[in-house]
Amino acid sequence: MSNKNTLTLTDNRTGKTISLPIQAGTAGPPVVDIRGIYGDFGLFTLDPGFKSTASCTSNITFIDGEKGVLLYRGYPIEQLADQSSFVETSYLLMKGELPNQSQLDDFDQLITRHTMVHEQLLNFYQGFRRDAHPMAIMVGVVGALSAFYHDSLDIHDPRHRELSAIRLLAKIPTIAAACYKHSIGQPFIYPDNNLDYAANFLKMMFAVPGQNYQVNPVVARALDKILILHADHEQNASTSTVRLAGSTGANPFAAISAGIGALWGPSHGGANEAVLKMLYEIGTVENVPKFIKKAQDPNDSFRLMGFGHRVYRNHDPRAQVLKKEAKKVLEALDHHDDPLFKLALELERIALEDEYFIEKKLYPNVDFYSGIIESAMGIPTNMFTVMFAMARCVGWIAQWKEMMVDKDLVIGRPRQLYQGPAQRNYKAVNSR
Ligand code: SDX
Repeated sequence: MSNKNTLTLTDNRTGKTISLPIQAGTAGPPVVDIRGIYGDFGLFTLDPGFKSTASCTSNITFIDGEKGVLLYRGYPIEQLADQSSFVETSYLLMKGELPNQSQLDDFDQLITRHTMVHEQLLNFYQGFRRDAHPMAIMVGVVGALSAFYHDSLDIHDPRHRELSAIRLLAKIPTIAAACYKHSIGQPFIYPDNNLDYAANFLKMMFAVPGQNYQVNPVVARALDKILILHADHEQNASTSTVRLAGSTGANPFAAISAGIGALWGPSHGGANEAVLKMLYEIGTVENVPKFIKKAQDPNDSFRLMGFGHRVYRNHDPRAQVLKKEAKKVLEALDHHDDPLFKLALELERIALEDEYFIEKKLYPNVDFYSGIIESAMGIPTNMFTVMFAMARCVGWIAQWKEMMVDKDLVIGRPRQLYQGPAQRNYKAVNSR
């Protein structure tokens, strides 16, 4: 191995040295391959939160956190949000290239034909209280899909993997909308094959049997953009969860259900719901400085929800697109003086001028504006993370499919630094 592309480490306890290969990717930091370190050195590496760890190689999404760049299969997120559709972007994420017109039409038709769920799956909703959090229902119902689709559970069969992928992508909006209908005691609305992905979801959410429902094209277009912006994001916590679950050989429905559970956390996809709760708690612009100070207090667990990111140390490009989209949607829906949006803009302005946020490089992330748009669309706050899961499902599927054909695929099984008691003998209770 040429010395140039290696990292040489010396264990000063023994004087032993090891050269580890350094591998460069298309873009981003190169990696040092530490697979041999335990065998050669008897050492584990420790990296809580995996801040310096690449868990896999991937061709799907690239993020440059310093420059605020996000690429899906090499295409900038701003161009896809502006010129593509969620279905076309889903094709790109899953297959690696943009489709030509006939490929796009076939893919669109394939998804449309799989949007209905097994009628008995809808019985699961009756087991949930009406006030159950919709994410609790999503975890349960998506996991339960594996009880229905035995014809596509052989993860080693590429046709089964493809069929499961299409089923998940097609059915997730139907399942998501049913969570909302269940919570308000309205009948489920079946998919309408004459509508596109976003419009179909809106109809399943807001239509009622007794009258015609007209989709607002501005809202549908905005929703399609929101789905594109949330579709994938490299090896984030929920995607890593899907990969880890999938690495055991679990079926894709179970792996995606695990990803939904991980996304729910307020530090991750649950942040959009937390942002709205925080804005309501702040209430007025006059209260903003108090909360900005609270967010900096090391003794206070309060954080400014929708701000900060593990990777973006500059702006989150998705937040910038969503901020523009929010203005457009609010105008179109005659909410131009939406107090929440005004408060969010003022909170962003003050935070970005505050030296703590400047020093910690904390900028608005994807969750800061998405809730404001979704709220204006009439989507209730507790459904915001469901929207995120609906969009991210295609990213999880694409990453799962990539992992399943990866020559390096092994079951994920991290080790630890043990600091518990040394071995000791059991003592009878009367001698303790
Ligand atoms: C998503 O990974 C992804 O790609 C996720 C995601 C995706 O598309 O999959 O982009 C989606 O999850 C976006 C993030 C949504 N979460 C939030 O908005 C919640 C608020 N943000 C924080 O919880 C935090 O910023 C995280 C969890 C997002 C990132 O945390 P890190 O990477 O572990 O950073 P950190 O906590 O180490 O923060 C560095 C410093 C800390 O201070 P010190 O300990 O160094 O003194 O910045 C501070 C933090 O206390 N800090 C904040 C803050 N975020 C970080 N202080 C106040 N408010 C905040 N929001």
